[in-house]
Amino acid sequence: MRFATRAVHAGNEPDKATGAVAPPIFMASTFAQDGIGRPRGYEYSRSGNPTRERLERAVADLEGGKHGLAFSSGLGAITTVASLLKKGDHVLICNDVYGGTFRLFNKVFSSFGITFSRVDARDGDTLSKAIRRRTKMIWLESPTNPLMVVLDIRSIAKIAKENHLLLAVDNTFASPYIQNPLKLGASISLHSTTKYVSGHSDLIGGALAVSDEQLHEKLKFLQNAMGAVPSPFDCYLVLRGIRTLHLRMEQHSRNAQAIAEMLESSGRATEVYYPFLRSSPYHDLARKQMSLGGGMLSFRIRGGYKAASRFLESLRIFVLAESLGGVESLAEHPGRMTHSSLPREERERMGITDDLIRLSVGVEDPEDLLEDVKQALDSALS
Ligand SMILES: Cc1ncc(COP(=O)(O)O)c(C=O)c1O
Repeated sequence: MRFATRAVHAGNEPDKATGAVAPPIFMASTFAQDGIGRPRGYEYSRSGNPTRERLERAVADLEGGKHGLAFSSGLGAITTVASLLKKGDHVLICNDVYGGTFRLFNKVFSSFGITFSRVDARDGDTLSKAIRRRTKMIWLESPTNPLMVVLDIRSIAKIAKENHLLLAVDNTFASPYIQNPLKLGASISLHSTTKYVSGHSDLIGGALAVSDEQLHEKLKFLQNAMGAVPSPFDCYLVLRGIRTLHLRMEQHSRNAQAIAEMLESSGRATEVYYPFLRSSPYHDLARKQMSLGGGMLSFRIRGGYKAASRFLESLRIFVLAESLGGVESLAEHPGRMTHSSLPREERERMGITDDLIRLSVGVEDPEDLLEDVKQALDSALS
């Protein structure tokens, strides 16, 4: 079956007991047993819950994996994956990784004796040379936040396989509609379902998809042992969002492409970062690896911080806010908002300077969004 049909139906079979077409939400924390040690399939909702299982089946299906696992946040999912590691193990993390992932390795797992280093994963040789004797995992994001760097997941998966390393790919920016890391050879595909997968900016959640049975067993053990599980109600909301993922991603991508092209031709942006722009250095790779460009783009505005702040404060439809992936358009200043926890020199070395603006383009009418961006550019640069 094709994606749209799976998005509507995966994990969404009518309820066996009642025929209800919308899945029931099993809020129970515990389940009656027929005798001592004779549960009917569920015992306690941290270990397993019927609503969460529906979501986990849907995530596995959409990512082309055998198993899905749901978490209370994207970082809960990342923490669980990182807990596969032991003292002395080393992780290679791509440059430009989400700040919360960096903070987790840098401030939390490093104190448990797990080391990590950042690497420019655009270059296979650089990546291969960075592998150490104790390296156990490569951690990627593609496209990256906020500069929309696209990494060659298939080639990196080959390197990971040759060196017996796990490859985890944070697929949050693309969504399972646009990119499927497991099909490109990754061991784990990860989502902050807070973003596109749920799509309505009304919950915090995370998910993993895997195909390897042993890896699934280990992660399932950790999911229960560490306890970062989502509430059944949030699982229901994510499932509800998934039903329209394909429709939303098509519109997000159409709108973002139109805005990226307008910004590029406006003469008011010194750089525009969107992987499906013909001028992007990642255009060919993105076209191979992703089915659409997605809803995220960044650009550098002429006029530095003053113009950037005026632009952001002049927007009427785009909301000035962190986060991304909801139906409503959002705009933010990475240097002073999402990436402000990075030291200034580090930020600037990465290219996150004061003229950089990030847009999460929603699913509103494209003409309204174009008009909004144009009028804010006029206000910023007048
Ligand atoms: C790419 C990416 N991965 C992971 C996360 C963390 O997800 P959550 O906020 O759901 O914990 C975020 C949050 O912004 C993100 O942007």
